[in-house]
Amino acid sequence: METTEEARTTDGKVGAVLVVGGGVAGMQASLDLAESGYKVYLVEKRPAIGGAMAQLDKTFPTNDCAMCTLAPRLVDCGKHPNIEKLTYSELLALDGTPGRFQARILKRARSVVEGKCTGCGECMANCLVRNRAYLEPEEPEPLDLAPDQLAEVNRIIAEHGNRPSSIVPVLQDINNKYHWLPPGAVGRISEAVGLPLARVLRIATFYNMFSLQPRGKHLIRICLGTACHVKGAGRIVERLERELDVKAGGTTRDRRFTLEAVRCLGCCGLAPVGTINDDVHGKMTPAQFVKVLDNYPA
Ligand code: FES
Repeated sequence: METTEEARTTDGKVGAVLVVGGGVAGMQASLDLAESGYKVYLVEKRPAIGGAMAQLDKTFPTNDCAMCTLAPRLVDCGKHPNIEKLTYSELLALDGTPGRFQARILKRARSVVEGKCTGCGECMANCLVRNRAYLEPEEPEPLDLAPDQLAEVNRIIAEHGNRPSSIVPVLQDINNKYHWLPPGAVGRISEAVGLPLARVLRIATFYNMFSLQPRGKHLIRICLGTACHVKGAGRIVERLERELDVKAGGTTRDRRFTLEAVRCLGCCGLAPVGTINDDVHGKMTPAQFVKVLDNYPA
């Protein structure tokens, strides 16, 4: 961005001041100068003004609330007619002599219409850089079982017996076989053991080892409990989402992996930790976790 025009304030004064840095000091300087009648360009390299103080709870040594100090200045800077905020911008060069400087500012693209931004955060959730384009889901699974699946389900039921007490082992075997519980299989179990479908579904949804959605051959669980979170488990999830092209909770298109984020796997000493099927992988970096995936073939 380059401007050679003489800046003029709302009350007609000529001259402008450039303040570099939108922390609390930069904001206060801008407000004082703007109140004195100068046009102020406030340059901040981060996407928003506020600086480090916006990250603090209390300030030393008075223990004052940081946001109580900062918020009024944020509001005043935001609405002062003499302050032009240049966020996500950097000063590239400053030439000239006192009284007549010329500044070159690099303003980075935000890829959103700033005037329309309400701070809702939707652009982060739908970022085109981090997320791939949304693709229509594949055809839904058929409700009925294929003849070979029906034969296999019947075999499993016969192996454990047509009794209500056999439901859990039957569900386990079917889930292990197909990596989920196809609706037709649940219906067949209900019929075979003589229990209402709602009872079978209640059991199937109680245990998280069962899934009513198709799962991949290998189930990846990354712990986002407190210990793992502070050790960067979130970055592992983000990296896997990118590598596998699937969101947490989803299954890859080739049904090789299902990625899940869970809370505390009960081995916090290994944080950040995740499991793939029954294997525990602790103290992992995102890159190490991606490498481990090679050990789980399609
Ligand atoms: S917090 Fe991750 S295993 Fe406990």
